[in-house]
Amino acid sequence: MTNPTALVTGAASGIGLATARRLRAAGAGRLLLCDRNAAGLDAAAATIGGDCLTLAGDVADEGYWAGVAPRCAGLAWAVINAGISTAAPIADLTFAEWRRTLATNLDGTFLTLRTALGAMAAGGAIVLVASASGLKAEAGIAAYAASKAGAIQLMRVAAKEAAPRGIRINAVAPGGVETPMWDAMPAFRALAAAEGREAAFRAMAAATPLGRFATADEIAGHIAYLLSDAAAGMTGSVMTIDGGYTG
Ligand code: NAI
Repeated sequence: MTNPTALVTGAASGIGLATARRLRAAGAGRLLLCDRNAAGLDAAAATIGGDCLTLAGDVADEGYWAGVAPRCAGLAWAVINAGISTAAPIADLTFAEWRRTLATNLDGTFLTLRTALGAMAAGGAIVLVASASGLKAEAGIAAYAASKAGAIQLMRVAAKEAAPRGIRINAVAPGGVETPMWDAMPAFRALAAAEGREAAFRAMAAATPLGRFATADEIAGHIAYLLSDAAAGMTGSVMTIDGGYTG
């Protein structure tokens, strides 16, 4: 496929930004960059360069996707990455937080997937950025874990539906990755305030078998691999990149 058109959600920051950069390096043509952070998208497009179309909006809003769909002609690659984390024990989790997390991480995945599948032809490929938290339970992350587990099963069903059309759909399930997402979590902010941000990441990474977190660039490399023809025999799979955490 020459200069495939690619769509990346959550492209203004972290794993999404690293992935958009990686896909540009891998020869992507037009990049459709989606995020609710409009200023962040403009900055991302400026650093990525080339043909970038920024589409600011909320991935959980069906109306947003009605506006994006007409821009998806010829779409070959899609990365469903936009996500938020919520950390609270179930007894303290408000229904609003539960709904907000499920809206972005699960409704957003469904709407992105439906739009991408509507635009793709044979040879297309989609990658979901799930999480190790969707595979292994931990206390205190009910909404996040449920949203990611749901998204993984949605991906598997979609892979079976899309296979006869020659479209592949896989997921990556990262463990921890150093990105701004962590700064939204009160427990991490407290640890970072006490020990410094780098030390806080090191302390958390030390609890994994490999003793390190993957970087956003490493995750982007795995996503690019799953989109490429090198992964032509893979669909419906979940690639864990978690330093052995779920093993
Ligand atoms: P990040 O916070 O750096 O980037 C997420 C991006 O998604 C932001 O630019 C944000 O504006 C955008 N976004 C959030 N909600 C949105 C919405 N409703 N509509 C449109 N855009 C929205 O976070 P990071 O770490 O790069 O996260 C990317 C994905 O990776 C998420 O799905 C996350 O759950 C997943 N992940 C992250 C891990 C980590 O340790 N950082 C570990 C495992 C999975």
